[in-house]
Amino acid sequence: MSIKLEHDSIYPKIDLFSTEFKHQAYKFYDNLRISKPIYPFTLPNNQKAWLITRYKDALMILKDKRFIKNPYTLFDSNQLKDIIPVQEMEVLISHMLNSDPPDHNRLRNLVHKAFTSKTIENLRGQVQDIANDLLDSLKYKNNIDLINEYAFPLPMMVIGKMLGIPEKDFRQFRDWSNTIIEAGNLPDKMHEALLEINSFRSYLSKLIKNKRQNPGVDLITTLIHAEDEGQFLTERELHSTIFLLIIAGHETTVNLIGNGVLALLENPEQLERLRENPNLIKSAVEEMLRFYSPVELTTNRWAREDIMIDGNKIKKGEMVVVSLASANRDQNQFKEPQKFDISREDNKHIAFGMGIHYCLGAPLARLEVEIAINTLLKKLPEFQLNNQKELSWRPSYLMRGLDKLPITILY
Ligand code: HEM
Repeated sequence: MSIKLEHDSIYPKIDLFSTEFKHQAYKFYDNLRISKPIYPFTLPNNQKAWLITRYKDALMILKDKRFIKNPYTLFDSNQLKDIIPVQEMEVLISHMLNSDPPDHNRLRNLVHKAFTSKTIENLRGQVQDIANDLLDSLKYKNNIDLINEYAFPLPMMVIGKMLGIPEKDFRQFRDWSNTIIEAGNLPDKMHEALLEINSFRSYLSKLIKNKRQNPGVDLITTLIHAEDEGQFLTERELHSTIFLLIIAGHETTVNLIGNGVLALLENPEQLERLRENPNLIKSAVEEMLRFYSPVELTTNRWAREDIMIDGNKIKKGEMVVVSLASANRDQNQFKEPQKFDISREDNKHIAFGMGIHYCLGAPLARLEVEIAINTLLKKLPEFQLNNQKELSWRPSYLMRGLDKLPITILY
């Protein structure tokens, strides 16, 4: 059934994608949590949405089944053009993160086994070897970009090997996913990104064809043969799931390594504590997740029916976006939320989301980042930020991550 979406000009337009917004976002959220925690606004593509900034509302909405993820069940084909501006993307987005039960359960169950804490723990040695090799290859370089030379290749190699992607192709994924992530859902940018989207699609088709002919011991082969209560993945779901695992499997973790090192450099006494006591790494990583949450805003959710929250009527078909970054700095949930404290107790951050879409890769992300940070501190005796002025947050709708992290290593 189709519903009418209104565009109301009194709702301010906010460019959540821009680097400028990213630089002042935390101040903006601090004000909103006090003045207008359920905030109506207009996205740059003219879609009307509600921005949720308080921890308690974030939890409630992420667990509420009346907010749904699959736009195809709610909108007609005309309205879908605004939501999915580029038809070529359709084959890449039929994955669990855009699905509701029962499809969601089926799509998630098919890959769940590969990501349990127990399975992931078996990768510890492999992740440690990757971290060692990457850092050894930097030996005697004085100036490096930590994002390019460490934070990006580490998770890309891990997820690439899990999926069974040839190593020579890893670099190419960065360009594809950067372009797609930075385009967000903006029609103009999506059209500009068309070339990249198409080459990513045809790469995936060839890869899947190849795996059908030459099965390996890897996740793509498992997915091709996966069966859950008699149901296989459709061809479209297979493409989309691999696309999701590649993007979710490295973009976010790159950002957590970069943001985490930045937080340590901005708080040298915390860096010193971690160097002296590497056992603090688990709580340090949780604090990094809270402090500069790599997924700043959740993916889109739509109200399946009219829903009242705190006196605000969210009408059927309207979109909500939860700011995990804001919820994770909520003064009503965290003591001294603006303080970066690597031994923070009772740190119930929601950087991995909440509810049925809670991050499937959380155990893998935690393992990778614990190893990445502690190995970095062990192998590099001392390093400092090279040029503060060069620091810039990438323009992106969902993510918070640095473009570059230039550091000087002191041997
Ligand atoms: C620091 C790293 C990571 C962070 C902060 C993160 C964060 C998130 C968040 C917030 C969501 C939910 C989004 C929403 O509800 O709109 C999510 C979902 C997901 N993440 Fe992660 N993620 C990380 C790493 C990973 C890794 C390494 C993988 C592995 C492949 C992964 C796979 C997924 C998948 C498949 C979903 C969809 C789950 C579902 O819909 O049921 N993530 N992640």
